[in-house]
Amino acid sequence: MRLGVNIDHIATLRQTRLEASPDPLAAARAALAGGADGIVCHLREDRRHIQPRDVYDLKKLGARLDLEMAATPAMVRFALKVKPEMVTLVPEKRRELTTEGGLNLNSKVKSQKSKIRSAIRKLQDAGIVVSLFIDPAKEQVEEAAALTADFVELHTGAYARKASPRELEKLGLAARQARMIGLRVNAGHGLDYHNVKNVARIPGIEELNIGFSIIARAVFVGMKKATEEMKNLIPHT
Ligand code: PXP
Repeated sequence: MRLGVNIDHIATLRQTRLEASPDPLAAARAALAGGADGIVCHLREDRRHIQPRDVYDLKKLGARLDLEMAATPAMVRFALKVKPEMVTLVPEKRRELTTEGGLNLNSKVKSQKSKIRSAIRKLQDAGIVVSLFIDPAKEQVEEAAALTADFVELHTGAYARKASPRELEKLGLAARQARMIGLRVNAGHGLDYHNVKNVARIPGIEELNIGFSIIARAVFVGMKKATEEMKNLIPHT
């Protein structure tokens, strides 16, 4: 099983001051040095963290890049220019703090589905692997296969919040069902140093995408050293 590290919240911190640092590219390099198998970033339409130039820079880094984005024509045009190895299509709401749920692939709203279908076709025609972020539910897996996605990314948020055996079972069933109908499987959202272990045991999942908990921990793993470095620059009285 691979680890994709999502570096969005390095950019969140940078955007609070509109400075050059902390730099998501440097964070990606550090994550790769720590064993990350790929880098994940989400270019939101509201540009609250990652900016378009970050995605170009991350692509130049040469690591496997998974770009999370909404299935809009503008984002598809952008992805076709950058050509990441993978695009994960996610739902986006302006007011959400983070991606709240999976795509609703069996929505009765036809325009929604045709947008996703058209995005998948254009991205795949350009050689980009397409993943759909979905809740671990049978109907969603079936719709993802019908839309000819390459991968599904199973939303682990409900399990991460409740840590209930039922939610874990849903993830296992959805992963098995997806593999049986020819889909490849990733998973992520809300995974941390405690809840990751059970998800990592689910057979058939190829990659876990994890961001917030790694960045939150990085602050404390590095806080002592950062303070020492500053202290050493200040003359002692
Ligand atoms: N996968 C998807 C599709 C996401 O939208 C996110 C959050 O950007 C993640 C994984 C990572 O979630 P977290 O930051 O909670 O680890």
